[in-house]
Amino acid sequence: MIGRFTLDVASTFLLGKEMDSLSLPLPYPTSGYSKSSPVVNPNAHTAESFIHSFSLAQKISSARQLSGNAWPLLEMWDDKLKPHMDVINNFVEPVIQSAMERKKAGVQKGEEESLTLLDELVRQSDDQTLIRDETINILVAGKDTTSATLSFAVYMLSEHPQFLAKLRQEVLDTVGPDRTPTYDDVKDMKFLRAVINESLRLYPPVPFDSRQAIKETTFAPLTPGGKPLFIPAGATVMYSVFYMHRRKDLWGPDALEFDPDRFVDSRVQKYLVPNPYIFLPFNAGPRICLGQQASIQYPLPLFIGTNRSVTTYPPEGWKLKEGRQGKEKLMTDAHLTLFIKDAMFVQMTEARES
Ligand code: HEM
Repeated sequence: MIGRFTLDVASTFLLGKEMDSLSLPLPYPTSGYSKSSPVVNPNAHTAESFIHSFSLAQKISSARQLSGNAWPLLEMWDDKLKPHMDVINNFVEPVIQSAMERKKAGVQKGEEESLTLLDELVRQSDDQTLIRDETINILVAGKDTTSATLSFAVYMLSEHPQFLAKLRQEVLDTVGPDRTPTYDDVKDMKFLRAVINESLRLYPPVPFDSRQAIKETTFAPLTPGGKPLFIPAGATVMYSVFYMHRRKDLWGPDALEFDPDRFVDSRVQKYLVPNPYIFLPFNAGPRICLGQQASIQYPLPLFIGTNRSVTTYPPEGWKLKEGRQGKEKLMTDAHLTLFIKDAMFVQMTEARES
């Protein structure tokens, strides 16, 4: 449902065409819909197919990246990406086409009509491939990152009812039970920001990142008195934000606990202020995320205001399994972004019922 929500938001502000995927029937655990199935289902609704292919296209692209220059050899007989890119392009291209035709016909949007990213791109270029790639690029940057943040926040709140109650109180005090929050509402909601930050810390949607050295350099030794690390020019260095966000030497002995108060109490001064680069969900520097102020704060208050309790359940049969599977309620996986494998099953109690 959260994936559908971010798809509807993204398709509206990027393309001006809402997919309306939220009006589809609820995806129940018994519906047998498997996100990890590698095939395109020709009978699925456009939005379901889009979400499915969009995720698999990222998975296949990431696998190609990891195989380096050898990836075409691995796909010599079978372009794994094509069926999924076809699904994505079949949705995006007609929308771009009609925007280009409007431009040719000299039709311009009125001042009061809201401009989308597509309107702006069409205004600046006639290159349909460039416009399509830029549009999909922003979808990749903004859709799954946002749905991961919201999903993990819901998961953590369901597992920590004391923080759910505290956030609910802030929502009721600031927004009320069922009004859509405004920019002014959310900008003053400190605990909401703390909950989102803490979810981004434990589950950073971009869990790994990389940079290439323009010139040779050295990194400080890993241990005091150790040897520095030599990085030759041109070398790609991968780093894990996921692991860094969970390091006890950087975040304190409770680094593995979900505790949003660490973003409001004395731990801010102790850990974060002297060392701000320990928290990098949006990266930093000149290539910092351009969408970090975007919509993540808004849906959570609405959802928390209208629901009294939130419970997550493990998929059927998990409780009987050994090891972590017997304890967890969901499994994570990653391609370009961190996501919940298959599904997270959530039950909510509407506040008004009580
Ligand atoms: C919670 C949500 C989000 C997270 C965690 C996130 C995270 C990131 C990260 C880590 C990067 C840097 C990637 C790198 O090092 O190369 C990045 C870049 C970027 N993000 Fe986001 N992002 C989020 C939402 C969005 C949204 C909603 C949009 C657009 C609407 C967006 C647009 C971009 C763009 C355009 C870049 C590339 C900036 C550049 O290379 O100059 N992001 N994002």
